[in-house]
Amino acid sequence: MATLIHNAAQLIPVATGRERVKTGQAMRELHVIPNGSLLLEGEEIAWLGPASDLPPLPSGTQVLDASGKIVIPGFVDCHTHLIFAGDRADEFEMRIEGLSYQEIAARGGGIIRTVSATRQASREQLLEATQRRLNRLLSYGVTTVEIKSGYGLSLADEVRLLEVTRDLAAEHACEVVPTFLGAHEVPPEFRQDRRGYVQLIVEEMVPVVAEGKLAEFCDVFCEQGVFDPSETERILKAAQDYGLKLKLHADEFSNQGGAELASRYGAVSADHLICISESGIEALRRSGTVAVLLPGTSWFLRVNYAPARRLIDAGVPVALATDCNPGSCMTENLPLIGSLACIHLRMLPSEVLTALTLNAAAALGRSDRIGSLEVGKQADVVICDVTDYRQLFYHFGVNHAHTVIKRGRVVVAP
Ligand code: NIG
Ligand code: FE
Repeated sequence: MATLIHNAAQLIPVATGRERVKTGQAMRELHVIPNGSLLLEGEEIAWLGPASDLPPLPSGTQVLDASGKIVIPGFVDCHTHLIFAGDRADEFEMRIEGLSYQEIAARGGGIIRTVSATRQASREQLLEATQRRLNRLLSYGVTTVEIKSGYGLSLADEVRLLEVTRDLAAEHACEVVPTFLGAHEVPPEFRQDRRGYVQLIVEEMVPVVAEGKLAEFCDVFCEQGVFDPSETERILKAAQDYGLKLKLHADEFSNQGGAELASRYGAVSADHLICISESGIEALRRSGTVAVLLPGTSWFLRVNYAPARRLIDAGVPVALATDCNPGSCMTENLPLIGSLACIHLRMLPSEVLTALTLNAAAALGRSDRIGSLEVGKQADVVICDVTDYRQLFYHFGVNHAHTVIKRGRVVVAP
């Protein structure tokens, strides 16, 4: 089956040279084709160029008229905590009244509350709640999403979250990349025995997750009062020994040398980075670790923003994601995160689009296959109802996705 997306006001490939990731000035170069067309054959991109240069079409090609619209690669949300039960709207209110995220956590709120709600939820409830969020992501044009476990925090509960994620992924149009985050917090039953919990992760959870191929990545919340750098290192090392790729919640609320640690272990990405140091920036640049910035979290918690400009100007590849979770950023609206990045991180719309596509795919180790519109790449495409890509972030908070295509197939139609 072939599909022609014809005569878009702007066709935006994002990359043209099969680059796996973009840094510095290259993040601004989107290679926009005015009045562009894109031909998809099967699951792949077969041709793209000016509408006036259209090659002969395979017989039976379906034509989607994109005039007055733009065509971009499917968005990639490379950092989410999408699988959980319950909500924390009451904590949202407490924060408005002046309590901090950390104060609420110290009073028994925070991650641990979602852990109890999640442990109590049935498989069906979890599946349904996560599916609703996944549907919403897809409706915004997100065609690939990373989903972290981390609200189970026991062997059985973490495995259950990853199994539900796998089952959901099997039938959903949105491609799912599973990450094991057993080191999201120390569960209440191990509060007096932190070492015991780290040991459980290293000796039981990591082997079971890796051998069952339940996750592709392992992540750790390296933070003051959560997992310290030496505990983090033990977990990263175990995960690496079992062949899991690495991510790290690094330098979010305090500087723990998280970025340095992530680069030392060859992590694919280091995420959050609000408190990254100059040496952390230099370390990421040297290792080519993708910096995943989550400005929705800074906004929702009213804390500082990561130094995006310094990262980009230093040559670190930068990606953006929602961090969708019930505590620190409750949204599936990835383009809105792009608007926040423009305003608060001072990223240009072109840099933001690169950070939400090619570089986000790189943060998931998939930029050889997705993240840009190039011949031979997977046909993950979004037609947006705007005439210029800058309007995606300028006209903020609304959904501009008109048609969403995954692996060459229309999965969201107007
Ligand atoms: O990425 N940083 C750790 N985890 C989440 C928050 C999770 C929660 O509050 O439930 C985050 O911000
Ligand atoms: Fe997170």
